[in-house]
Amino acid sequence: MRRKIVVGNWKMNKTFPEAEDLLDELAERLKEEQDDQDVEVIVCPPFLYAEMAHDLCTDEDDESQVYYSVGVQDVSEHAQGAYTGEVSAAMLSSMGVEYCIVGHSERRKYFGESDAQVSRKVEQLLQNEITPIVCCGENAEERESGMQFDVIGRQLKEGLFGLKPLDFSRLVIAYEPVWAIGTGKTATPGQAQEVHAWIRNLVQEQYGKEIARVLPILYGGSCNARTARDLFAQPDIDGGLIGGASLNADDFIAIVNSFEK
Ligand code: PGA
Repeated sequence: MRRKIVVGNWKMNKTFPEAEDLLDELAERLKEEQDDQDVEVIVCPPFLYAEMAHDLCTDEDDESQVYYSVGVQDVSEHAQGAYTGEVSAAMLSSMGVEYCIVGHSERRKYFGESDAQVSRKVEQLLQNEITPIVCCGENAEERESGMQFDVIGRQLKEGLFGLKPLDFSRLVIAYEPVWAIGTGKTATPGQAQEVHAWIRNLVQEQYGKEIARVLPILYGGSCNARTARDLFAQPDIDGGLIGGASLNADDFIAIVNSFEK
């Protein structure tokens, strides 16, 4: 059995009080549902709210009761020093952050993030015991011209395949077709499954059967309470990276509950 994971990527949304309300509500709801829950829930708010997210993720009286894990949406590729505005993996780790999204298509598109930078960020995270959630995916034009596997193959090889097997085995991968992100145009379960199986096969060729077998591969791109069930029922889809629908507790919890029992 592979891990089942649902990640909320809040992107650049929510003021401080709004974030506090949502985190409170998520903790409350996940507490109620905890008994029949074998899903790992990871919440990735903006950096500023990571500490609050960490404070609210456990039971007040019993800190061993954790309702969700805390992640963030980016990290510096540098370890420390004169990099104004950056946030290091060591800082995040010292605040209890356990996961970090890397190589999201919005970072690649708007901030020019390259595969080489993805690779350096992943290294920083692994050195600081933070699990990278590494995104890959093709845009509309690339899919229309049948280039999706070339693009994803390049992103994975250049971003990740320099890792030693033990390090690679600590990753989570997210397939996010760019044409599906924030567009309301979810990939069909068949389209997503095809790419997930292809990724798992590529990982198997590089790292062997066992690492490929247990690697969690999440789907992202307009995944919502309506589409999650069929997506998560696919054999190679192990959960979701959720943007818009993670900003509302009802929608997000419905997605968390969308795995087959
Ligand atoms: P979306 O975003 O669910 O709003 O499409 C997903 C993501 O970008 O991670």
